[in-house]
Amino acid sequence: MTIGEFILKISQKQEPDLTKYSESFIQKVFTERRTNHNPKISNEAYLEYLNQNPSEFSIFFRHLFPNVSNFYRDRLTWEYLAKILFPQVIQNMLDNPTSSLRIWSAGCARGEEPYTTAIIIKHYLETLNIKIRSYILGTDLSNYNLTQARKGLYHIESIKEVTLKILNRYFSKVQDHYKINPEILDMVKFSNYDLLEEKSFAPQDSIFAGFNVIFCRNVLYYFKSEAVNNILTKFYKSLVPGGILVLGNAELLPEDFEHLFHRINPIVPVYKKSTAVYKRSHRNV
Ligand SMILES: C[S@@+](CC[C@H](N)C(=O)[O-])C[C@H]1O[C@@H](n2cnc3c(N)ncnc32)[C@H](O)[C@@H]1O
Repeated sequence: MTIGEFILKISQKQEPDLTKYSESFIQKVFTERRTNHNPKISNEAYLEYLNQNPSEFSIFFRHLFPNVSNFYRDRLTWEYLAKILFPQVIQNMLDNPTSSLRIWSAGCARGEEPYTTAIIIKHYLETLNIKIRSYILGTDLSNYNLTQARKGLYHIESIKEVTLKILNRYFSKVQDHYKINPEILDMVKFSNYDLLEEKSFAPQDSIFAGFNVIFCRNVLYYFKSEAVNNILTKFYKSLVPGGILVLGNAELLPEDFEHLFHRINPIVPVYKKSTAVYKRSHRNV
């Protein structure tokens, strides 16, 4: 059996559809796991072993979805969001006090990204004594990650970019871990959502998308370009006109989408949904 046949076989058996993931990424994980198991074993023999050993298969499968993340990952992006972008979005909302600030962190791993967002929003609103409603949703494919996220308990490695002031204000030390305080924990909802599924353009829990900001950082690079295009189309449909999309530092928007999102900062990968071509986009994407 070749690795291509193997990918096809497991995609027929279970979600997500691995045929939409980059083959070189799957190959890399496969080689790492094979070498870890036995550096001398051939590809064919390891494939056979994977087929017959559910426990090795589940380890291999988990490695396909690495949950590497940390609070304030890519510090410059968060500086920009905290000092410039969120204040602008919130000020715009003050003109329309009935609406709430809606944020989606897609591929949120163990929750570091949506909790960082909640801390920044909470801090800003408290400092200026502003009251607005917010809805922050973290979604991931992995239920293991989501269970960890709901606990809000982190190893020191995850908080290495957190300042002492924020740590003292929003975390409590629990033995050798740090737990997010309930006021932040309660601001974030989590649910399972496969970005590759084709039945919906947003998680069911969001009821109607209408997001002001969507984060999808360090997720798109796993996928083949057709899948990336489908996911970006979902985001386009899920954002309010003028809504914001935040990508990872190493991720570039495909050319086909440059008329739908325009980059608003040359250094950090933050894009605004284009309102001028809103109608045209529905025909094109
Ligand atoms: C490297 S983490 C990124 C975490 C966070 N966004 C960040 O930048 O720090 C990638 C996450 O994408 C999730 N993921 C992979 N495939 C997915 C899919 N098809 N749908 C939703 N999430 C997926 C993985 O489970 C993992 O938690």
